[in-house]
Amino acid sequence: MAEGVNTNNVSGSPGGPGQHVTDPRLPLSAMQIFKLKKNWKGVKRRLEDTGVEMLIRLFRLEPSTQIQFKNIRHLETEDKLRMSEELEKHAGKMMASLDDIVNNIDDVDYAMDKITKVAQQHEQFQGFAPEQFSLMEQPFLDSVRIILEDRYTDNMDTIYRILIKFILSNLVKACR
Ligand code: HEM
Repeated sequence: MAEGVNTNNVSGSPGGPGQHVTDPRLPLSAMQIFKLKKNWKGVKRRLEDTGVEMLIRLFRLEPSTQIQFKNIRHLETEDKLRMSEELEKHAGKMMASLDDIVNNIDDVDYAMDKITKVAQQHEQFQGFAPEQFSLMEQPFLDSVRIILEDRYTDNMDTIYRILIKFILSNLVKACR
């Protein structure tokens, strides 16, 4: 196989005429990136709602994480969390970062730079451990599925799983 060519690329000879070659660091084929960007538009329209669902699911999965959010830690029920402007604000910031990464996922240098910046921001939050990023995998997948409803197909599930593993593992690595 030619050097630097992603084996996940669309069928045909790697690097051949008309072949869409993706950056070898990216575990998604050109076709998967195309589908992702198209499908992500459905999430983009409801970015904050997706972020609120993610945070609520993160706190449900690992309640100790809620204490790390200084303006949210005192809210003791999910109903109160859902009504909180502070939670919504945080959801908005988190999703703006994810949106920027997804929109530029094929510009891997840019995406990695953004990932590094997000990781650095977290290092300054007291008590934050890099491994905590991995906790967001299932909350992300569940939230995107809820928001997209029938647009969340089995094929998109495969793509979102690869995407979120890629982002979260690089967030963890960028903290080292
Ligand atoms: C998809 C993964 C994540 C992304 C993209 C993300 C993004 C962000 C962004 C953009 C901010 C705002 C930074 C600032 O205003 O300076 C933030 C704050 C924060 N994040 Fe994350 N985050 C992620 C996952 C997590 C996880 C899993 C935790 C677990 C504890 C976490 C904990 C925090 C805390 C404690 C803050 C500070 C909130 C405050 O101001 O009280 N983040 N995050």
